[in-house]
Amino acid sequence: MAKTKKRSNAPKDDAGETPWNRPISRRDFVKTGIAASGVAGAAVVVGGKGGLQALQVGTLPVTTVPADPFAPRLVTLNVNGTSTQVQVSPRTLLVDVLRDSMGLIATKKACNRMTCGSCTVLIDGQAIEACGYLAVRAAGHQIVTPEIATKDPVVNALQQAAPIADMGQCCYCNPGIIMAATPLLRQNTNPSVADVKAALSGNICRCGNYMHIINTVMLAAQNLRGGS
Ligand code: FES
Ligand code: FES
Repeated sequence: MAKTKKRSNAPKDDAGETPWNRPISRRDFVKTGIAASGVAGAAVVVGGKGGLQALQVGTLPVTTVPADPFAPRLVTLNVNGTSTQVQVSPRTLLVDVLRDSMGLIATKKACNRMTCGSCTVLIDGQAIEACGYLAVRAAGHQIVTPEIATKDPVVNALQQAAPIADMGQCCYCNPGIIMAATPLLRQNTNPSVADVKAALSGNICRCGNYMHIINTVMLAAQNLRGGS
């Protein structure tokens, strides 16, 4: 069975480890957050200069620029198998449309900078942070949120296993982790612990409940195999 790749946003410490491979303290988490915000700040400065240059040397005729490129527009989003039209600005994030326009609040918003994985949803079967994904870009794709529940056997198995294996302390990370674990269990109902850690490497649990979360995924996998 092929090894599951780590998520691209997996936070790492100085030794290159994700929190899934070592105990994480509150201090570790604060340090990770400060480092991430520093990187993001630098990117804004560089991007700002690049944007200015593009404006100065750009050759696009003015007539090709819409009067208001940020004007809201109607897009159709397919969420949990149902198509819904929503009005969004081109810069509105998918997490905000799901939570604020569609009332799907099981998708959590915490860091809002693609670091913690709380907002993970599935887009065409792939785990994606909805706080880093524009809603307009999601039009025409299949979006799955934790609200799909019993309609998806894998999501259902994970949700059923969660209270049995004590997945949550505060539970805030749980919906995003269930979404992140779903693609793994769809492909492989007999994963190793290393597979589970890799699949969840983009998610942080502030309560440090990592062992119980891994046990939840392993129990869900066992139940999907028929209890063997
Ligand atoms: S809210 Fe933390 S990754 Fe999106
Ligand atoms: S159980 Fe509290 S953040 Fe994970």
